[in-house]
Order: sequence, then C-alpha cells, then structure tokens
Amino acid sequence: MKPFVAANWKMNTTLSEALILANGVKNGAESLSACEIVLCPPFPWLVPVAEALKSHPLKHVSLGAQNVFYKESGAYTGEVAAPMLKGVVEYVIIGHSERRRVFKEEAAEISLKLKAALAAGLTPILCIGEKKKPNAAWLSHPEDMPDAHTRPVLHDLDECLVGLSKEEILRVIVAYEPVWAISSNAGAIPATGHYANQVADKIRGHLAHLVPDGQKIRILYGGSVTPENAAEFAHQSQIDGFLVGGASLKIQSFLKICRDAITG
Ligand code: PGA
Repeated sequence: MKPFVAANWKMNTTLSEALILANGVKNGAESLSACEIVLCPPFPWLVPVAEALKSHPLKHVSLGAQNVFYKESGAYTGEVAAPMLKGVVEYVIIGHSERRRVFKEEAAEISLKLKAALAAGLTPILCIGEKKKPNAAWLSHPEDMPDAHTRPVLHDLDECLVGLSKEEILRVIVAYEPVWAISSNAGAIPATGHYANQVADKIRGHLAHLVPDGQKIRILYGGSVTPENAAEFAHQSQIDGFLVGGASLKIQSFLKICRDAITG
C-alpha cells in the first residue's frame, strides 16, 4: 500500500497563499507518485484549490475537507453537508482533537459524521489519540507501558465506529494523533517513533479484532511531524503515513515529509 500523507492546513492561509501552497506542492509532487497526497484547505478555498489542481492534474494529489456535518441539508447555519463536498473532495478529516476540544464534539456525533461521509462516497480520516502525556520512560520503552494508558484510544475508536457496517469500517483511514503531541497544544512534544508504532500496533490489532481484514486499514501518525522527524516515524512498521498540521504550510517542508514517507 502506498504511503499516505494528508496536509491539514487548519484555519490558515489567505486565498492567494492557499493557491501558492497548492501549486507549489503539486509541482514538487510530480516525482512523488509513490505517495498519496491529500491537501485539506479551509472550506472557502476548496473550490479554487480544486481548480488549480485541475490545471495539470496528478492522480496522486487530491483534496480533503477538514470537517463535515452529518445532516444532508436543512436549517443548520454555518454547516457543510457531505453531499456538498462530494465532487469537490475525496477525503474528509473527522473528529480532529481541535474539534473535540474547542467545539465539544463527542464520539456520538463523530460516528454520525463518519456515516454521513461514507454514505456520500467520501473517505473519512478519523482522528483518535490519548490526551494524557505518557511518562518519559514509556516514550523510549513503550513496551513497558500499561494497557491502561492506551485503553481510552481503543474505547474511543469503538465509540466512533459504532453503527458502521464492516464494509464501511474498512473504508475509514485512522489518524493516530496523541493530543499532547499536536503542535498547537501548549507544551506539545512529538512522540517517538517507537511509541507511535506501539500504539498504532494496538490500534491495528483492535481493528483486526473488530472486522475481518481490519489490519489492512491505513493508520497515519500525526502530531508535530516535521521534515526533521518524519523519517523516524516513516520507518515504523505500523505507520502508513502522516497527518501533518504546521509543517504542511511550507511547501518544501511538506514535500520533504512526503519523500520520507516514501523512503520509510
Ligand atoms: P501538527 O498538527 O502537525 O501541527 O502537530 C497535526 C494535526 O493537528 O493534525
């Protein structure tokens, strides 16, 4: 399976910055067809960025949204429905920790969003990850970590996937993003490759237990991924790619991360 790298631009970029960034990534990505690359700009830039990508389309570069609402249409001021996104994007990030923290999204709502996205033919990128920072020893020796530390991640995964059929679950991409490692959080530190791999391994085991072939579901790592540390994560056996925030706003940094995802 090709490595998969998604760029979460969050609420950043003006329109002209978004176009410069998208064109820069597209030009640099011509030689990176061994990687699936997904750009997730803010909602208003999705169509202009889609147009820019179309001018010289690359099969391996596509678009994603950062959020979606679960109703199909109606009186939901400010929200965007999955059928509206279909045709513009292929992917949608769901359950990002910033949505959970700032907008109080909970697993029940995330599960409805997953259902809506899948029904519209979109591929969801479901974000899960523990809030509690591990103690320093577990970062270097994650095999010593008690199951209790990662249990909330697996529990959340169950709650988010509830109500989805086996076929639907197999269409989900999981982004493991330990909340304490996301650069926008005060005191954030990146995980170690070993630590992220150990948790990804537990997630994969859990998915395999939930559905036949569940071990084949893509698991991305996210949280302070940079051009400096991407190779360390990419080398891990259970990590199939990245969800990148801050470092995806710089063309060369993001391209380097994609290159490392390929060589990993
Ligand atoms: P970061 O963000 O790479 O800036 O830590 C990742 C994310 O929030 O998806």
